[in-house]
Amino acid sequence: MILVTAVPPPLCVARSPAHEVQAFARTSPRHPRRGSELRAFLRASAFSGVAKLIGMAKSVDRAVGVDIGGTGIKAGIVDLKRGELVSERIRVNTPEGATPDDVLAAVNGVLEELGGVDKMVPLGVAFPAIVKRGRTRSAANVSEKWIDFEAEEFFEDGLGRDIHFVNDADAAGVAEVRYGAAQGREGLTVLTTLGTGIGSAFLYNGTLIPNTELGHLWYEGTSIERYAAYSAMERENLSWEDWSKRLQLFYDHVELLFSPDLFVVGGGVSKHPDRFLPLLKLRTPILPALHRNSSGIIGAAALAGD
Ligand code: BGC
Repeated sequence: MILVTAVPPPLCVARSPAHEVQAFARTSPRHPRRGSELRAFLRASAFSGVAKLIGMAKSVDRAVGVDIGGTGIKAGIVDLKRGELVSERIRVNTPEGATPDDVLAAVNGVLEELGGVDKMVPLGVAFPAIVKRGRTRSAANVSEKWIDFEAEEFFEDGLGRDIHFVNDADAAGVAEVRYGAAQGREGLTVLTTLGTGIGSAFLYNGTLIPNTELGHLWYEGTSIERYAAYSAMERENLSWEDWSKRLQLFYDHVELLFSPDLFVVGGGVSKHPDRFLPLLKLRTPILPALHRNSSGIIGAAALAGD
């Protein structure tokens, strides 16, 4: 016997993607909802069609990157197809103490120097700390006020616009894997930036694994970056040979722990690769970052343009 059951009336009307976005806006505690939150919602939404449409409408070929470091704040306009700077590279010193208010003022300054950045042009900001869901969680070379600080929101409020916020070394890693020395490389690329601190980015088959923080491997009671960053060479007046011995210890340890397929070296010192790369004896190939110390700007812009 065949049982025929009545089809129950639908309990709810199918909702369109537009409904979903409106509902999100209505439930928002703050108005207007910040762009980054809306994007995060759209990404997570089952109605990814909306996200795709917005993404298509936003398809851009230029974005601005700002790379905040312990010593300098750098910025430029980036051609996202070629992954190259198409403006002058602006640089100012990081303000003494690097408090949030002073860093924000300096970022506003570099953006003004770039001619003022239209709000429709994506803006990426790279920062030298652990960045988890827009929050900075550490502060090795900046004010301690950044620890557990809603940094992305702070910049968005202070700049009056949406931004993409990311760790500085992770931004450099993205630039090098998309447009530089790690392009097309399979397996694990470990990019390290050697500057005021040591930053790191892991890229596995081209995908970023964020916040690896190898500069904070423990060495003689402190972070190894105190001993082996480029700033240690300058501070202690080391020769290239003596500094390279410290780097050898760092890279040996990283090689042992992670068996990478490629090392890429960025940061301030990457403009002098011939002075120290030939002195390192590693099993893993090691290359200078193709975009040298501009990788952070390029990567931050690239992520903002996604
Ligand atoms: C910070 C990292 C940063 C690196 C390079 C380290 O002290 O902890 O987050 O990537 O410096 O700026």
